[in-house]
Amino acid sequence: MAEAERTFVMVKPDGVQRGLIGEIVSRFEDRGLKLIAGKFMRIDDELAREHYAEHVDKPFFDDLSSFITSGPVFAMVWEGQDAIAQVRTMMGETDPAESAPGTIRGDFGLDLGRNVIHGSDTEEGSAEREIGLFFDEAELHDYERIDETWLY
Ligand code: PPS
Repeated sequence: MAEAERTFVMVKPDGVQRGLIGEIVSRFEDRGLKLIAGKFMRIDDELAREHYAEHVDKPFFDDLSSFITSGPVFAMVWEGQDAIAQVRTMMGETDPAESAPGTIRGDFGLDLGRNVIHGSDTEEGSAEREIGLFFDEAELHDYERIDETWLY
C-alpha cells in the first residue's frame, strides 16, 4: 500500500457562514480520510498574502484577500492514501459553475470567490507548505483509527 499523504483543507468564510462545516467534514470522513488537525480561526492580511503568495499580483487578489479575512475559517489537515488528489476531486473545480453535481463546490459553491472550500493543489510540496503555515507540529495528531487496526 502507498504511504498515507497529508493535505491542507479549509472551509472558507462563506462555508462557515452557511453552516457547511459539518457537511464538509462528514464527506471526508465518509470517504475514509482521517482528520489529524482542525481549528476555527481568523486569517489576517499577512497570512492571506503568505497562503496565496502565488496570486498576490493577480487582478483578483484584493477581492480574494478581503474575502478570506472577512470572517472565521475552519482549517484542517486530512490524511489518507492519495489524500491530496482525493480532496481535489471531491471539491470540484475552482469555478462552481464548472463543478459536477456531487462535488462540494458543485453542490454548494456560488462563484469563483465564494466557492466554500480550499484544498492544497497537487504540486510537489504545496500541501506541506500550507500545513506548516497554519499548524504547529504539536497540533498534528498522529493516531490509529479502529478501521486501520482490526476492521481491515
Ligand atoms: S489562477 O490564476 O488560475 O491560478 O487562479 P485560480 O486557480 O482560478 O484561483 C486561485 C484562488 O483564487 C480564488 N479566486 C478568487 N477569490 C475571490 N475573488 C475572485 N474574483 C477570485 N478569483 C479566483 C479562487 O477561488 C482560488 O482560491 P483557492 O482557495 O485556491 O481555491
